[in-house]
Amino acid sequence: MTPVIVIEPMFVRSIYMFLGLFLASSGSTLAIAETTESRDAVETGYLLLTEKPYMPPDFNQATFDEVWRVWPEPLRSRAERASKDERRQMAFQRYGLTRRPEDDSGAPLQYVVDEAGNWSMNCFACHGGSVLGTEYPGAPNSDFELTTLTEEVRKTKLRLGKPLTRMDVGSILMPLGTTRGTTNAVMFGVALMAYRNPDLTRSNRRLPPPMTHHDMDAPPWWNFHRKKNLYIDGFAPSGARPLMQFMLVEENGPEDFQSWEADYQNVYAYLMSLRPPKYQGSLDDRLVAAGRTVFERSCAECHGTYGAEASYPEVMVSLAEIGTDPVRHEALTSEHRGSYHRSWFAHYGKKEVITDPDGYVAPPLDGIWASAPYFHNGSVPTLWHLLHPDERPVVWSRHAEGFDEDRVGFVIDQFSAVPKSVKSSAERRQYFDTRRHGKSAMGHDFVDQLTADEKKAVLEYLKTL
Ligand code: HEC
Ligand code: HEC
Repeated sequence: MTPVIVIEPMFVRSIYMFLGLFLASSGSTLAIAETTESRDAVETGYLLLTEKPYMPPDFNQATFDEVWRVWPEPLRSRAERASKDERRQMAFQRYGLTRRPEDDSGAPLQYVVDEAGNWSMNCFACHGGSVLGTEYPGAPNSDFELTTLTEEVRKTKLRLGKPLTRMDVGSILMPLGTTRGTTNAVMFGVALMAYRNPDLTRSNRRLPPPMTHHDMDAPPWWNFHRKKNLYIDGFAPSGARPLMQFMLVEENGPEDFQSWEADYQNVYAYLMSLRPPKYQGSLDDRLVAAGRTVFERSCAECHGTYGAEASYPEVMVSLAEIGTDPVRHEALTSEHRGSYHRSWFAHYGKKEVITDPDGYVAPPLDGIWASAPYFHNGSVPTLWHLLHPDERPVVWSRHAEGFDEDRVGFVIDQFSAVPKSVKSSAERRQYFDTRRHGKSAMGHDFVDQLTADEKKAVLEYLKTL
């Protein structure tokens, strides 16, 4: 057995260096832009995201095909008896990967797989999930298991004597995510940005920035077209360049960013084109109408209006007023936002970056029925729980399948603590423990003003957005 080091980000303001930053490795780039001139920007954007590797590969097909051998029993034995296709399906399920829509190749939506079989992560790893069991690019990937995938790939590589990559090593020091479907993505950005000058050349900084690791639930991309500013605290104005931050790994230099900006105009167009899925269950029209009235009275001032005359005020709500988990707000410092402001991403200070946001921005609620779990940290499993703050579970785990039509969201089991029988960290990540750092499900108590009937009506109305 190979020892696996797992560092949990609980209660620590830790100062880890993203060790991977200092390791050399080789990137690979495949130009497809030449062959796509005739496609329109939206299609090109999707194609670039799924076919062009902007990140160095994390592993290859041969490693992925062997990963089941490090699974716990009884899964391993089941995989051993399964056909190659079934085994692949099991691996997709374990790690929260999906197929691509209208694509029989079997390639995952979440990774670019090049001709040599190298897998490079793409934006859909976090931003491409499924809705009612069907893959839906732009839906948050509420199943992604980046930590488990990385740990098991690392074990597999060590078993096969293959070299480790930056991801395998960096992830020992940088927590990737502690629950299924959420990631420490914001801190990846902080760690990577800290080692760059404004023009994205590497800086000579030696000390790592202070970091407060915490997990977030990726927002749905179908609201991108409604927003002037991005992220839960709305600090960064929208545009093509902000979309490129995720690629700031050591291998990618300023020249790469400049040459890829044209690609990302297409990615921007693709994101702008996305819209939410329509609710597919039955609706009680009378209740919907009543819910609309309540919503427009109690919620619209922050969340906007929907339908023919839709409007979105993009309101920032102070932390004191919203009362949801504060860690994300504290973790991104004004120093970080300031260096973002001065950088190429914000056109060297020309874009208006908010370096000291007061709290969180109320998100648009289009397609909200389809984007459980709720709040920026993904702490609330259904809309019913969001509307009933006192009933929110302390610890919950979701069923692999199913949609709770009554409560609108995940089908869950709830607990007062993570069961004692849970031993491995991979298993522990199936439990969302709201008592942990950055995982609180408190706040947004405005809903307390509503009567039970009003909540019922609003819940029905929310399904129609
Ligand atoms: C490891 C997971 C992960 C990957 C990979 C990732 N993102 Fe994100 N993304 C997030 C999280 C988490 C947030 C929320 C951050 C916040 O609000 O502070 C986010 C926020 C965003 C937003 C803001 C959306 C909004 O409504 O405010 C955009 C746009 C976005 N990402 C685009 C991208 C693009 C483009 C890529 C690929 C180049 C990408 N992301 C890769 C996790 C990820
Ligand atoms: C004072 C402003 C304000 C009012 C009023 C308000 N909200 Fe919110 N709401 C927010 C903010 C800010 C967030 C983001 C909180 C977070 O993620 O930490 C939010 C989050 C949500 C979410 C979760 C969104 C997601 O993508 O996870 C839902 C659903 C929601 N609100 C519904 C409602 C409903 C229904 C009402 C009326 C009964 C309402 N809100 C009233 C500010 C408000």
